[in-house]
Amino acid sequence: MTESYLPKLLEGLQEAVFVLDQDRHVLSSNMAAEKLFGQRNVGEDFVKVVRNPDCLSAVAEVLSQDEGAKQVNIVEASAKTNLQVNVVSLGSDNADGARVLVSVKDLSDQRDAEQMRSDFVANVSHELRSPLTALSGFIETVTDLQDTDTVDRSRFLGLMNVEAQRMIRLISDLLSLSKVESRQRQRPIGNANIPAILNQVSTTLNDLATRESVTIDVSIPDGLPDIPGSDDELTQVFQNLIENSIKYGRRDSQVSIKAYTDENVPGLRGPALVIEVSDEGEGIAQQHLARLAERFYRVDPHRSRNKGGTGLGLAIVKHIINRHRGRLSITSTENVGSRFIVALPMA
Ligand SMILES: Nc1ncnc2c1ncn2[C@@H]1O[C@H](COP(=O)(O)OP(=O)(O)O)[C@@H](O)[C@H]1O
Ligand SMILES: [Mg+2]
Repeated sequence: MTESYLPKLLEGLQEAVFVLDQDRHVLSSNMAAEKLFGQRNVGEDFVKVVRNPDCLSAVAEVLSQDEGAKQVNIVEASAKTNLQVNVVSLGSDNADGARVLVSVKDLSDQRDAEQMRSDFVANVSHELRSPLTALSGFIETVTDLQDTDTVDRSRFLGLMNVEAQRMIRLISDLLSLSKVESRQRQRPIGNANIPAILNQVSTTLNDLATRESVTIDVSIPDGLPDIPGSDDELTQVFQNLIENSIKYGRRDSQVSIKAYTDENVPGLRGPALVIEVSDEGEGIAQQHLARLAERFYRVDPHRSRNKGGTGLGLAIVKHIINRHRGRLSITSTENVGSRFIVALPMA
């Protein structure tokens, strides 16, 4: 290095960087290199850092020409790595013997995101195909029925309706999810009256509760303030949470809804409005809790489908709460019940 600031300059770069001499040995490397490869490899053959033959031949080529640059992408699916390697000639007349600069960009996270996207597409396709296959089967059956088979006809039409409704629910949940995701970084506009939302949602879900033989107990003190937030989105949050508590609750048990203010919610700076939705259902085993809000994650897929679930409810809930800069926590004891706690900033 001829200029004294060069070592600092290397250190300051966010990409992993190696300076090699004419024998491909590492003259210097930076902190990002140490982070990515576990060590700095100074004095060692570059082959110890990256064994990939395409990368090594790019280095050899740039070394032999003493000018120009080459780029190589290294993707190893098994190790989940995706590296973009740039090899640049530094010329041949450097006092310290530096000949090439290799910089390595780690694109592995980007690959994870791509993987998630393609998993998502696969999941959606699968979720849509099941009801569609069922529908198509029923259509065939109805087509083959005799004109006199009116009882069977209306039975099958009923089943077809169930499948069609399932597809409609799925599509509308997908649309909600993509809407909240696209607005994730924008603050919501407006003010929301949480007690009004909770009362309205409980009323809407009364029929479901009666069918599942669950009673809803709403206990909210008077005088809770409005909070900044979207009425529509927060309605969706509590619609999903209360519906889950009813669906996954026990027959002849209670779902209770509480709201109160709390000055000291961990992770939130100012005072928050806290809403708890608790049930006395089967509960959720510890190992599922962390993944519960992932799209299409269900503890018991069969049961979720039987209850008409899409597996997207909690993903939507989490996104909306994030957008409101709030917190969602879940506590659960198996065979005792679950509690979903939403904390929303008051200002
Ligand atoms: N109150 C609850 N009690 C027990 N399990 C629950 C509760 N709420 C959610 N779950 C579990 O979390 C999963 C994901 O919930 P959600 O995203 O709302 O999807 P869905 O209700 O459509 O299945 C459910 O399938 C269920 O296994
Ligand atoms: Mg749900």
